[in-house]
Amino acid sequence: TGDFTLRGKGTAKVVILGAGVAGLTAAYELGKAGYDCTLLEARQKAGGRNLTLRGGDRLTELNGPAQDVRFGEGVYFNAGPGRIAPWMVTLDYCRELGVPIETFINTNAAAYVHVNDRTVRARTARADMYGYVAELLAKATNVGALDKTLTKDDRERLLEFLRRFGDLGPKHAYEGSDRRGFTKYPAIDIGTPLDAPASLHRVLAAGTGRAITNDFGYEQATPMFQPVGGMDVIVAKLTEAVGKERIRTGVKVTKITNLADGVEITWDGGALKADYCIAALPPHILAKIPHNLGAEVTAALTTPTPIAAGKIGLEYGRRWWELEDRIYGGVTETDLDITHIWYPSHGYHSERGLLVGYYATEGDAELYGALTPQDRRHRALTQGKKIHGEKYRQNLLSSASIAWERQEHIQGGWVRWPAFDSSFTFLQRPAGRVYFAGDWLTHLIAWQAGAMESARGVVTRLHQRVLQSP
Ligand code: PHE
Repeated sequence: TGDFTLRGKGTAKVVILGAGVAGLTAAYELGKAGYDCTLLEARQKAGGRNLTLRGGDRLTELNGPAQDVRFGEGVYFNAGPGRIAPWMVTLDYCRELGVPIETFINTNAAAYVHVNDRTVRARTARADMYGYVAELLAKATNVGALDKTLTKDDRERLLEFLRRFGDLGPKHAYEGSDRRGFTKYPAIDIGTPLDAPASLHRVLAAGTGRAITNDFGYEQATPMFQPVGGMDVIVAKLTEAVGKERIRTGVKVTKITNLADGVEITWDGGALKADYCIAALPPHILAKIPHNLGAEVTAALTTPTPIAAGKIGLEYGRRWWELEDRIYGGVTETDLDITHIWYPSHGYHSERGLLVGYYATEGDAELYGALTPQDRRHRALTQGKKIHGEKYRQNLLSSASIAWERQEHIQGGWVRWPAFDSSFTFLQRPAGRVYFAGDWLTHLIAWQAGAMESARGVVTRLHQRVLQSP
């Protein structure tokens, strides 16, 4: 992470299969070092899963109808990646390429948690859970249950923290807290707090645990970021830097041949020779292309399993979530098949806005993916209505949905390795003159940063080889 430059010039010819984020990053870095790169992309457009849909776009799907996207001016839907953590290399590329970024609100106390048919604000769920956990730990401390573990000083310090953590009363009991929120917030008057919290038993039974710990992990912690205007601004800038003329779209590779002194890539109606190849396709797609790289390569490529993932963008003519729910960005977590609802982190108070009405993976994603676009939308609205009520169906202007497992030449949201075993390490090395790249070859699967880090690794090794070869 940070700035990256290959040292010294290389003059080799490199063919890159796939103009997704890994392929584009590889071409960009090799280009800076003087290499002559050609990218072959099977789809009609570069970017791969970094896909932003706007009005006028047409989205086709395997075994399903095409969708004409009808969003209004300025409305966009990040159908693939949507959020970037600050430690990720993706932000270095945004800086280097001049992609403006803004905050992506990943955690919002005003968003909802909907579990077991009950909807509460995230702040309420959190206050209750933290409150009771603090009370229990204080109780255990006070009855001496932790005396073997804690010194007297430890006990006092712990209790002092627990009072803050849970907003406990003088006797270390959780009696509710204004952290839970209000039905009417304070003004000249003191406001109207919510009703008292449910019992410990009920709060535990509510099962909000997953929802309120989502942002605890290093990947999802606040703040996160997004490019201004859509995630594909990254693709546009990479394409511009690489040179549009180097990317050949609609080229479906039919054969990869490793030669003694180079590689030959064949497709319907053409072939190309180069000194090296970087195969930056999803492993399950790559595995289906005939090659002479050996059976061990095919076996390794078929080891990771593709995982389904899907999203729907719901465009509204009124930003009711801001006007009525006071939700400005963030995510509602649910135990419904929609899993999450994302509220937009930009364009506040403008006329239109787009919600992500589901972002599902695995079984839930397959369920939505198998439906027609109309039925996906119908189902998403039925589910969202459980949280937001009738207004969820009103002022809806248009929608578009993606099922990544049904996207041609991609066929999955991402992959899972049964284990990061010898197949994983085997493919870190080239097979002859063919190198492999993609998020699937990193521990950052399902992140653009994975694709970028993998590309950096591959071009570094390729460049070393070129500099050392006579
Ligand atoms: N990067 C994706 C996301 O943020 C998928 C993912 C989720 C990956 C959580 C790791 C952890 O939604």
